[in-house]
Amino acid sequence: MSKILVAYTTNSGSTAEVATEIGKELAINGRQVDVRRLEEVTGLDDYDAVVVGAPMILGWHSAALKFIKQNQTALTHKKVAYFCTALSLTRTDDSIIHSIPLQMDPDLAIPPVHAGRLSFKERYSTPTNYLNPILKAAPAVKPLRIGFFGGKLEMFRLKFWQAAFVMIIIRAQPGDVRNWPFIQTWARELNTEFSS
Ligand SMILES: Cc1cc2nc3c(=O)[nH]c(=O)nc-3n(C[C@H](O)[C@H](O)[C@H](O)COP(=O)(O)O)c2cc1C
Repeated sequence: MSKILVAYTTNSGSTAEVATEIGKELAINGRQVDVRRLEEVTGLDDYDAVVVGAPMILGWHSAALKFIKQNQTALTHKKVAYFCTALSLTRTDDSIIHSIPLQMDPDLAIPPVHAGRLSFKERYSTPTNYLNPILKAAPAVKPLRIGFFGGKLEMFRLKFWQAAFVMIIIRAQPGDVRNWPFIQTWARELNTEFSS
């Protein structure tokens, strides 16, 4: 039976809980699942399938970009999925980018105010703008799916410049907008894909 790794990184902690929830769903059929912070992953040889998850922190967290870049060769021989936690996502018609199906939390993905004339923030937050650097970091890796999930923001956990960025550019309000049923469904569907 295949072994699965859910490897994540985090800025303030909340993506760790998302990774744990995904790990629980993937383990439902008795499959062995390790949930590890990226920094704790020492190798991928033991795994047939790998989920890599990270928050958007001025783009996908740099530790996640580095991880997929460094492990690109190993990941091309495994079933892979990515997930991103975020607070701002512009809803576009893209449900597939570079042949990879995207799943966007409907509560997170907000349509632009004027379709066809996106504001700076709306352009910054499109799935394509977020994903291009991720796919460029490890172009040989073909994830089966990429999920965008609502995240969590607690201002007191941030450095001053981080809080300023989030308030001015992302214009996000503090709070927890993680959509657990959406995350669980995503993981359940992924489980089916990992099993086939
Ligand atoms: C410095 C900083 C930059 C961020 N940049 C983005 C961003 O570009 N797009 C976005 O949607 N959310 C952004 N966020 C929000 C985080 O992605 C969100 O709060 C996430 O849930 C944090 O996960 P964590 O608790 O695991 O660190 C940013 C947050 C911080 C603190």
